[in-house]
Amino acid sequence: MSSAPRVVKTPTELRSITGSIGFVATMGALHDGHRSLIERAAAENDEVVVSIFVNPTQFTDPADLARYPRDLDVDARFAMDAGATMVYAPDVATVYPAGFSTSVHVRGLTERWEGVSRPGHFDGVATVVSILLNHIRPDRSYFGEKDFQQVSMLRRMHRDLGLSGSIICCPTVREADGLAMSSRNRRLSKADRVSVRLLSHTLFSLRDLVTDGMLDTADLLEAGNEFLSPGEGVVPVVLDYLAIVDPETLVPVTTIVEGSRALVAARVGDVRLIDTLDLNPPLDTSA
Ligand code: PAJ
Repeated sequence: MSSAPRVVKTPTELRSITGSIGFVATMGALHDGHRSLIERAAAENDEVVVSIFVNPTQFTDPADLARYPRDLDVDARFAMDAGATMVYAPDVATVYPAGFSTSVHVRGLTERWEGVSRPGHFDGVATVVSILLNHIRPDRSYFGEKDFQQVSMLRRMHRDLGLSGSIICCPTVREADGLAMSSRNRRLSKADRVSVRLLSHTLFSLRDLVTDGMLDTADLLEAGNEFLSPGEGVVPVVLDYLAIVDPETLVPVTTIVEGSRALVAARVGDVRLIDTLDLNPPLDTSA
């Protein structure tokens, strides 16, 4: 039986926690991707705080903010079932006190990809995560690899500002057909759902090509664009970007080396989705 959700709304209430703290930041609409982060945090810490806060400053489109799914009761129960010991659900005025005038900007890593498509988005994420880290003061914070540019930026910020604990990046959880889990997937129609598979299929096909010895990224991107062109009668995948980058700098590379990573962003119907894959993971020598 699951315990009753312990939902707190202010930093003061968080101070009652003793023992090591694992932290999972979310905007709610929780799914099995979030669950994997919470489970990992529960395995590695005495207490797990899951924040549920739809952060207004990271939305570039007000309509997107307005339609973001919110159901605190359902999410709090989901988080506790997954292993959270406390849910932190502050009001907007608690996170952003009256007259709020501060913004955290991480140069370099935020200037490409999502930073171009969603101006101001990463400043909103960096600002809210630094506030949440100061409210919660965790020992370990868990973020998903799916939002690879986000976790890269947060690592940089965390190092630069000397923030609490360490940052841990957790693997992407996927649906059976490969689609990366996302709160936005609920908005996909049946027809959209067929087309979005192309995103993960393209990434895994690129990895196969690399395994077969194709190392020139121009050739790989040509093949990738081919994979993404839709068949007849299918909802088109409107590509924003497909790139192969250095995993540290996120700058495009011309040849695949260990760790080279594909990033993709596209719109299907009116839903914008992103995905990423390590195209050349280090050989598993454990066997
Ligand atoms: P949200 O989209 O709710 O995601 C919360 C965390 O779950 C992020 O670290 C994200 O990378 C991770 N996540 C999402 N889908 C995942 C999947 N399929 N597999 C593994 N992890 C997954 O990202 C945000 O919220 C916000 O920007 C936030 C960091 C909370 C700041 O507002």
